Amino acid sequence: AINDPLKVMISGAPASGKGTQCEMIVQKFGLVHISTGDLLRAEVAAGTEIGIKAKEYMNTGRLVPDEIVTAMVRARLSLEDAKEKGWLLDGYPRTSAQAQSLEDLGIRPDVYIVLEVPDEILINRCVGRQLDPMTGKIYHVRNFPPETEEIKARLVTRADDTEEKVISRLEIYKRNVEAVLATYVNIVKKIDGNRPKEKVFEETKTLLSQVQDEKVKAATTG
Ligand code: AP5
Repeated sequence: AINDPLKVMISGAPASGKGTQCEMIVQKFGLVHISTGDLLRAEVAAGTEIGIKAKEYMNTGRLVPDEIVTAMVRARLSLEDAKEKGWLLDGYPRTSAQAQSLEDLGIRPDVYIVLEVPDEILINRCVGRQLDPMTGKIYHVRNFPPETEEIKARLVTRADDTEEKVISRLEIYKRNVEAVLATYVNIVKKIDGNRPKEKVFEETKTLLSQVQDEKVKAATTG
């Protein structure tokens, strides 16, 4: 196809830096960012039926049932902007059932990025994380403090960012990761996420530019 935009999945343990890299990827490549964590938090904040169901799972660091999340992702992927600009799927699929439901719909990414960060670093990152509810920007009390006092005053922390809940989220991640990876084994790209975020992005950017170039080439010669 002439207009065949990039389709990217990004995965990694809790606090491996998915959201942080996604901010930068969106700026550079203009993809539609679909984060199931963000979508679910918005449902919780709005007090919708989905939000009410999802809240107890999220606040205890467990996965929200597949059927709830899958319906949400399907709906979002089918919107025009995702088809036109391409998409960046963040935090989905997280179980083999979720991966299978995308396969059943014929939805496959061009590349599957895994951010690798050691466990002990992840806990520290989560426990210091802060979010700006106005811009959605991700901060960290020590690593990335807010730019101004005004921003600092409005930052919020997530209910699932306590040490105990991070450990539980990490365990659940480890239980599912192999099964999800198996679905994308031939397009997996592992990136060392335990470096400054700009360094991580340099590698991500090079990778995505390459994938994009290959798609253009395939479309013009094929
Ligand atoms: P979700 O929001 O997806 O949480 P997660 O996977 O645990 O990932 P995080 O958002 O915690 O981390 P991140 O990798 O985005 O890291 P960030 O960039 O913020 O899901 C939350 C919950 O929703 C789940 O537990 C589940 O209940 C539910 N859910 C979501 N998807 C689901 C699904 N598919 N099925 C079922 N349930 C689902 O960075 C973290 C911190 O580190 C920040 O403070 C940041 O500033 C800092 N940092 C980032 N990069 C660096 C760096 N390079 N160096 C130093 N610090 C860094």
